[in-house]
Amino acid sequence: MDQDINQVRLSYGRCVASPTFFDDFYQFFQSSSPAVKDRFKNTDMVKQKDLLRHGLSHLIMFAGGSKSAEMKVEQLSTSHDKDHMNIPGWMYRNWLDALLRTVKLHDKKMTQELDAQWKSVLQLGIDKMIAAHSRTK
Ligand code: HEM
Repeated sequence: MDQDINQVRLSYGRCVASPTFFDDFYQFFQSSSPAVKDRFKNTDMVKQKDLLRHGLSHLIMFAGGSKSAEMKVEQLSTSHDKDHMNIPGWMYRNWLDALLRTVKLHDKKMTQELDAQWKSVLQLGIDKMIAAHSRTK
């Protein structure tokens, strides 16, 4: 897993160096479903792109066992849960697909192996967010 995280961190570095990475991500994500698009109808997308840049770093560091990243992912889980933004589990599938499409577009060094590494690293945090959505208080 450590090797996977390192490769993903390097790949993410190449992606964020590309100025349209987050524009393309939200383009793919929002066009994946009208229900997803609807969630962002009142969102300031300039701010949102910046927030996601940090959110993604936390998700990657969470997979590496960082305690502070774990707290951030816990906060994200709460903000997206049933009592707050109420994001259903299926939307995370669209989110991950859109993200991997975007990485493929922006990281010149993308390979099948790296695609699998990205998926396994992010899935840990996504599982936590989906589990939080269905937990009862
Ligand atoms: C693991 C994947 C995700 C990450 C890392 C992520 C990250 C973030 C972050 C950092 C914020 C800023 C507010 C906060 O910190 O709570 C946010 C807000 C938001 N996210 Fe997510 N998110 C993810 C998945 C999703 C999914 C699947 C949806 C489905 C549509 C979604 C919809 C939203 C919406 C609607 C907002 C609020 C926008 C606003 O303020 O108008 N997120 N997300």
